[in-house]
Amino acid sequence: MTRTTRRPLSSASRRVTIALALAAACIAALAAASDVTVPLSIELPDNPTAGARVFVEKNCVRCHGLGADEGRIGPDLGRIHFPGTVLDLAGVFWNHAPVMREKMQDLKIVQPHLNPREMADLVAFLTAYRYYLAEVGHSGNPIAGRTVFEGKGCPQCHAMAGAITFDKPGPRLDRYRGQYSAILLAQVMWNHSPEMASVMRGRGMAFPRLTGTQMADLLAYLQAGNVSGRQERVYFEPGSPRRGKELFAAKRCSACHSIAGAGGKGGPDLGTRPRELVGSVSSIAALMWNHSQAMTAEFARRGVPRVTFSGGEMADIIAYLYFVNYANVRARPEHGGVLFVDKCSPCHTLGGGKQVGPDLQTAAGLTDPVAIMSAMWNHSSAMEQELRKHGFPWPRLEPGDAADLTAFLLARRAGK
Ligand code: HEC
Ligand code: HEC
Ligand code: HEC
Ligand code: HEC
Repeated sequence: MTRTTRRPLSSASRRVTIALALAAACIAALAAASDVTVPLSIELPDNPTAGARVFVEKNCVRCHGLGADEGRIGPDLGRIHFPGTVLDLAGVFWNHAPVMREKMQDLKIVQPHLNPREMADLVAFLTAYRYYLAEVGHSGNPIAGRTVFEGKGCPQCHAMAGAITFDKPGPRLDRYRGQYSAILLAQVMWNHSPEMASVMRGRGMAFPRLTGTQMADLLAYLQAGNVSGRQERVYFEPGSPRRGKELFAAKRCSACHSIAGAGGKGGPDLGTRPRELVGSVSSIAALMWNHSQAMTAEFARRGVPRVTFSGGEMADIIAYLYFVNYANVRARPEHGGVLFVDKCSPCHTLGGGKQVGPDLQTAAGLTDPVAIMSAMWNHSSAMEQELRKHGFPWPRLEPGDAADLTAFLLARRAGK
């Protein structure tokens, strides 16, 4: 016989249990709600190098190097790998504001005012710098590239300097030495890939697939040639993401590819691939090369002419694919609300009028995520004084927080 040990709950403890169960349900509901994400719209930069001018004009350059060897007061921004999105970078900038301001005072530098355009250009530039580094800093290794060239069977059809060429179906490739940027070479390879593929098929050869690193090394080899000696440096021209977006439509890429859900079908969505597409130029070029045969087949099936690129077009398209993924920020407004209560509501209301700081629902100009981040930066000195007065710590933003917080503020301002 078993003895039941369960005692009936007193009504008080039952109420507590019910309250606890309700609280747990609320927390679960909140947690579920905070999983709801919304896309944040972030403007594409026209020319990421515009931010280079801001970087100099606003004196950032006085304390920060960009891959320079000399020591400066601030960290070398060319050596830091900023993970995350555009807004995470703006959040990092915010986190460091108090220390930066202190150093600015030491050096008698006035804290620079940044309008939203300048803030957008700056974060785009620092992002693009990562993009340059992937291209120039970690540029391919021509010696490894020679191994790729040979391993992938390119010499079966192409001669480099010094070799006899008349039995080769493809043109000599040594004329590229020192002449073109890597991206232009990738463009030439893309343009010729259907003809190459058909000669390969004729010879029973498989179409060679390339990883991003192999592509970078191969391009470096083609740029350098196999003649040792003087190596001219070919500078990288970053493309314009905004022009790339126009080309993406004009070249009808959008007929088969959508960007974060909007656009055509048949090919993969190219706006939700942060891992692959926020890589280097060469890794995006390698992806396009690897898929060129399947794409060519899809073009043929639909009866549309295959796309080729000229001038800076491939650079623009790749810059677009890079930035659209980098700027593809999804935010959790519910979580932003929690952050607001915790970090901002001691001084700011939303629709409740001016408190210590301005009412963030009605303050002018807070129209997009970057505008909010630039306003926060511009007011950071006064905010810091207030924080000190009340003994509050500087409200740090962890990765994702800047997006969540700005999404929450924008939703409230839109009356949602
Ligand atoms: C007076 C010197 C000074 C100036 C001017 C300055 N910074 Fe800084 N910056 C610093 C210091 C020092 C740090 C490190 C702060 C810390 O450790 O919290 C820093 C940190 C940063 C970081 C974070 C780096 C990291 O470690 O993740 C970013 C991003 C940054 N600065 C961007 C800028 C930009 C953009 C400008 C121009 C608008 C600028 N800084 C102007 C001194 C400066
Ligand atoms: C089976 C033969 C074959 C193989 C293998 C081959 N190619 Fe080609 N390649 C060609 C042919 C043929 C052309 C010219 C196509 C045309 O006229 O459109 C060409 C054109 C090119 C061009 C453009 C040249 C120009 O000046 O117009 C480049 C660059 C190139 N190939 C690079 C490579 C690389 C790199 C490899 C190895 C990964 C490779 N090719 C493998 C046959 C081949
Ligand atoms: C006719 C349809 C079609 C058009 C137009 C088209 N693509 Fe594609 N694309 C595809 C298909 C199908 C794939 C997948 C191929 C495969 O699986 O190998 C693909 C794959 C890709 C990939 C690799 C994606 C990945 O996830 O690995 C990139 C990058 C790409 N396309 C870029 C472009 C660009 C840039 C344009 C415009 C110049 C373009 N495509 C035009 C059909 C198309
Ligand atoms: C200790 C008080 C305090 C806290 C906490 C605080 N702020 Fe502020 N904030 C201020 C003050 C004061 C101003 C006005 C500064 C000025 O006039 O230069 C301000 C200004 C701003 C502005 C500029 C508004 C405009 O009119 O352009 C924004 C945006 C802002 N704060 C956002 C935030 C956010 C987001 C948080 C939470 C992460 C926050 N603040 C936390 C005190 C605070």
